[in-house]
Parts: sequence; C-alpha cells; structure tokens
Amino acid sequence: MMSDNTAKLTLGGADTNYAVRQGTIGPDVIDIRKLYASTGAFTFDPGFMSTAACESSLTYIDGDEGILLHRGYPIGQLAEQSSFMEVSYLLLNGELPSQAELATFTRTISRHTMLHEQLSNFYRGFRRDAHPMAIMCGVVGALSAFYHDSTDISDPHQRMVASHRLIAKMPTIAAMAYKYSIGQPFIYPRNDLSYTANFMRMTFGVPAEDYHLDPAIERAMDRIFILHADHEQNASTSTVRLAGSSGANPFACIAAGIACLWGPAHGGANEAALNMLREIGRPERIPEYIARAKDKNDPFRLMGFGHRVYKNYDPRATVMQQTLREVFDALKINDPVFEVALQLEEMALNDPYFIDKKLFPNVDFYSGVILSAIGFPTDMFTVLFALARTVGWVAQWNEMISDPEQKIGRPRQLYTGPTQRDYVPVSKR
Ligand code: ACO
Repeated sequence: MMSDNTAKLTLGGADTNYAVRQGTIGPDVIDIRKLYASTGAFTFDPGFMSTAACESSLTYIDGDEGILLHRGYPIGQLAEQSSFMEVSYLLLNGELPSQAELATFTRTISRHTMLHEQLSNFYRGFRRDAHPMAIMCGVVGALSAFYHDSTDISDPHQRMVASHRLIAKMPTIAAMAYKYSIGQPFIYPRNDLSYTANFMRMTFGVPAEDYHLDPAIERAMDRIFILHADHEQNASTSTVRLAGSSGANPFACIAAGIACLWGPAHGGANEAALNMLREIGRPERIPEYIARAKDKNDPFRLMGFGHRVYKNYDPRATVMQQTLREVFDALKINDPVFEVALQLEEMALNDPYFIDKKLFPNVDFYSGVILSAIGFPTDMFTVLFALARTVGWVAQWNEMISDPEQKIGRPRQLYTGPTQRDYVPVSKR
C-alpha cells in the first residue's frame, strides 16, 4: 500500500513503513534500505526491472514518451545544435560551458590524446586478427599501469585528470586497434583538429598522403558520438559503477564497462540490424521478413526494433535517420539498403503487431548503415559506441564517488541450493 510519502508493507502479520522519495521527474522510489533490518526479507529483482540502484542527476529517460534528457537538455537539441565536446563538458560538469570554458576543456582534452609510447608495444602483443573490443578491454585496463598519478580516487583533481585522460585517449586507442588489425602504421594524434576529425584522421589517414575529411561526415560522426554519450543506468554503466564501488581505479572500471558493452544484447545490435537490412536486400522482400518477425514459431526478430525502456520512438533513432540522409547525400551513395530501411520502418510502424507491442526503431536501426557507409568495418561499431560512452561512464563514475551515500555494491540472492550437509570422503562416495 502506498500513500503520498510512505509505503506500508505487511509481512508475516507485521506492518513496516518505508519512505517514498520523489525525483525531479520520473517514477517515485520506495526507499527499502532498511527492509532487511526491519523484516529479515530481501527483495527479488533479477535484471533490476524495478530497482533504482543509485541517485543520479545526469540523464533522464521517459521510455513511454520517447524522451531522453542530458542534465535536462533534450537529446534532439543537443544533437542538432551542440558538439560532442560540449556534451562531454555538460555531462561531466552539470552545466553547458561558456565559450571560454569550452575552449579550455577542448584544449585540455586535446593535450591528453597521446598514449605513452610503451603502449604501442602492448598492441604488438595481440594477434592481428584480434577483435578490436578485445584490444580495447586490454589496453584501457592497462592504462592504470601507465598513469599512476591519476589513480587516487579520493582526490577530486586526480579523478578529473583520469576522466580527461580517458575521454582523450579513447579515440587514439580505438584508431590504433583498427590500424593494427589492418596492418597499417599507427597515426599519431593532431591537436589542431577537432576531437572527431582527429579520430577520423587517426583511423583512415595514412602517412603517405594528406587526409581530407568531408565536413558533413565529421558532423555526422560527432552527432553519432553525442547520441551514444550516456544512457542512464544501462548494463555497462551499472558495471562501471559496481566496479568503482569497491574503490577500483577509473581505468580498471572503464575496462569493465567495455567488457560489458561488448555483449550482443548491448553494443552489438547495430551490426545485426545492418546484416538484416542487407539480407532483405530489396523492398519487395520486406513483407516476408515482417511476417517472420510476427510468427511465434520463428525466432527471427526485426533487429533495431524494440527497446527495454523505450515504448515509443527512440529519440536517437529520429536523429540517426536524418544523419543517414546527410551521409548518403555527402558520399553520393545510392545504396538500396537505405530504401529497405525506410520502407521497413514505415511498414512496421503501420502494422498492428508492432503497434500493439509498442515496438519502434531504436538507435541501432540506422547506425550500422551509417557507419558502414562511412567506411567502418562491423567489428569497429561497438568500439565507436565504447569511445562515445566513455564520457557517460566517467561522468557516472565521478557522480558515484562523490556521493556521500555511496556504498560497495553488494546484491543479495534467493538461495536455492542444498541446505547444510556433511562432507563424505571420496573413498565413500
Ligand atoms: N521483432 C519482433 N517482435 C519483437 C521484437 C522485434 N524486434 N522485439 C520484441 N518483440 C516482441 C516479443 O516477441 C514479445 O512478444 P510476446 O509478448 O508476444 O512474447 C514482445 O515483443 C516483448 O518483447 P520482450 O523481448 O519481452 O521485450 P524486452 O523489453 O525484454 O526486449 C529487446 C527488448 C531485447 C530490445 C527486444 O525488443 C529485441 O530483441 N529487439 C531486437 C534487438 C535490438 O534491436 N536490440 C537493440 C536494443 S537498443 C540497445 O541496446 C542500444
């Protein structure tokens, strides 16, 4: 039972009351921290379907309305009018920067883009055909072996230096992982370029010639980074927080987040969506695939459709669709996959199955198509996601460390194993 600001629980005939707390927007939460002490019972919530694990003022999602806000600003406005550097500042510091603050922040990040030279030897220990996410996990974790002066998490200055280092070095690490996999020389960062242009040059440039980046592609990539910058308490962010709750250093925590993001249920869906669109190939085949997605006896799902939180159009997908048009125009691409994507979306959005189940395109529906058109191999898609999400991870990690109520994350369980029994020596078994 819930009244305005308390919830009453009746268990074993006894009543206990719990405070109901309100955020600035979003569902109320029942503060059950004293539940075990008061009743001896735990709650059971695998997958955290109904559990708020922390307080946060970074990102707000209303899945029913299709709203995503960073520090209160709608994602559409940020993607349209802001830059990835500005959004990074916003997520880290809570407010949009003044011009001078943005210039200082951008300069600070560019000054941290180089990697310790010894780290290039580290790359050479990997097989050339290693998945770039495997390299990312290894190299980012290894940063803690190189940057000892920013691993004291009790020092806010060191925390900020580590955050800047992670945001700045991630493009270098990601581009080097790509270069290593294709056998090309590493390209060193250039501080006169924007964050995104520098990354693109390190990825696609070669020492033998100048690299020219179409401004439309630079803008598209920057926007893709904005769209992936943070997404509240998703699996990888929760992993970073959980790792950080023990006091682990930030480089180790972000490596843990990268490992979690690597999973196909999290960072890998855009590759699956692209493969599906290519497999469909022509608009005439769309009805066949829609019928398969609706067939209970067929495990096939429309990839890039549906979301655990969004039961409306994913606001990031709207921006992605627009970005796809711009990229195809800039590169003069006439790929049937675009037409297939547009028509598939339209047919699904008008189909009662998808309407009833509130299945809408998510961010992954268009992103794989865009990244592939720009020239990224599918292996790199999740790496780009990790690069952009690093900002969200470090901002969330900083928020957690500064929270006086922060405790080591230690979920409980419903034990279903054997009760106590006596050990039987192996000779008697
Ligand atoms: N195509 C067809 N049917 C679908 C789809 C889909 N893409 N997604 C959900 N459904 C149906 C399910 O079959 C289920 O039907 P039922 O109620 O008759 O059994 C119903 O909709 C609810 O689906 P759930 O899997 O229970 O919903 P949940 O919230 O757990 O899943 C998920 C969300 C995993 C994203 C799901 O929609 C899906 O598999 N989508 C395709 C994969 C994808 O695009 N993933 C990217 C997510 S975004 C991100 O991670 C950045």
